Amino acid sequence: MRAPVLSANDIIARKQKGDSLTGAEIEWMVHGAASGRVPDYQISAFLMAVYFRGMSIRETRDLTAAMISSGKVLKLKTIKDIKVDKHSTGGVGDKISLILGPLVASVGVHVPMISGRSLGHTGGTLDKLESIPGFKTRLTAGAFERTVKKIGICIIGQTDEIAPADRKLYSIRDVTSTIICQPLIVGSILSKKIASGTDAVVFDIKCGEGAFMKSVREGRELAAFLSRVASQLGLKTSTILTSMEEPLGYCVGNAIEVRETVEVLRGRLIDDLLDVTLALGSEMVVLAGKAQSRKEATTLLRSALLGGKALQKFKQMVKAQGGDATIADNPRKLKLARHRTFVRAARSGFVADIDTLEVGRIATVLGAGRLKAGDRVDPRVGIEFLKKRGDPVRGREPMAIIYASSASAGRQAARGLRAAMRLSLRKPRPRPVVLGRV
Ligand code: URA
Repeated sequence: MRAPVLSANDIIARKQKGDSLTGAEIEWMVHGAASGRVPDYQISAFLMAVYFRGMSIRETRDLTAAMISSGKVLKLKTIKDIKVDKHSTGGVGDKISLILGPLVASVGVHVPMISGRSLGHTGGTLDKLESIPGFKTRLTAGAFERTVKKIGICIIGQTDEIAPADRKLYSIRDVTSTIICQPLIVGSILSKKIASGTDAVVFDIKCGEGAFMKSVREGRELAAFLSRVASQLGLKTSTILTSMEEPLGYCVGNAIEVRETVEVLRGRLIDDLLDVTLALGSEMVVLAGKAQSRKEATTLLRSALLGGKALQKFKQMVKAQGGDATIADNPRKLKLARHRTFVRAARSGFVADIDTLEVGRIATVLGAGRLKAGDRVDPRVGIEFLKKRGDPVRGREPMAIIYASSASAGRQAARGLRAAMRLSLRKPRPRPVVLGRV
């Protein structure tokens, strides 16, 4: 029997009606997206149909498998150890991969990390790393494997070789309001992780206003979806739910987040960054078989961080990927935008809440993320919080600094940020950042 002739229009129409697509239809569409055979306007329509109609577990597994087979699947055979990666569903001020990757590698775990760029209002690890002069996030598969083998870690993006379909779909989802769709998130995350040749992944599912999953219930649902599809495709996983009700750390942007990363690696202990890093890191170390328990793993990681081993590993990684490793000795070498605007408190009180989604949007409009496909991010813009939730403020005291490319962009961002930082007369109760394990 002859195989039916497939067309993008028919596949879009079937999904639009709510039909279940066959594996062949999904593969045809996904491979067409990766190769350029299917034009962007049909990919957008397809993604929108999936956004409204969803996909079953079977369809999502087929989507993920097609995204994986759109490129090469690395085996990393030269690395005999168990390889473990981490992936976050995206947040604001989320520089955890930059701290965690080198930290975990510094205790002997091999970390082949494939990361993403900014997505919607959330920042991207690759954009942050590219603010380091010379740093390359596009390496050949061979160079990626050699670097992981030699120094224990390498962080790159989806390439023409590894998960090219994710690169295409991700860039279109970013600008067509089709990000918050569980099957598309699962396919995107798992395809690049499985194609990278890792044995296990620890997921950081962010929940809250500043995340794509707005509640812990949605976070748990995504965790179950991810782990079912992952296990059908032979990937070991473990999941931590973390809060995104407040930006992580004090900085949001690209160069400014690398600066903050280096400060943490040099011993500045910032509670929320440390809590999330150790929760994820201890899972990774146990999955890699380098510790018997999470408690033992946490002790190992703390001493690597405080003893400077993680900073050394970060330097090695930056150097191996062509970047200027001296920024790890002097993070001020990473230049920030010239126009600085202070955001001052309208009255005295406590910072009660920070509208994290709004903070992400403000950073994106400043140029730290993308408003349309192909936009270039400005590595130097960003936001530095001087006060966070629970901190006391006096009237007119600065609560944050905006780094903008023009004075008017700075003023506009400052107006938005003042409104996004709500004050109260009472000190708010502390909230945990690590919400649980799944
Ligand atoms: N991270 C990804 O890699 N993909 C998504 O869709 C969301 C977060």
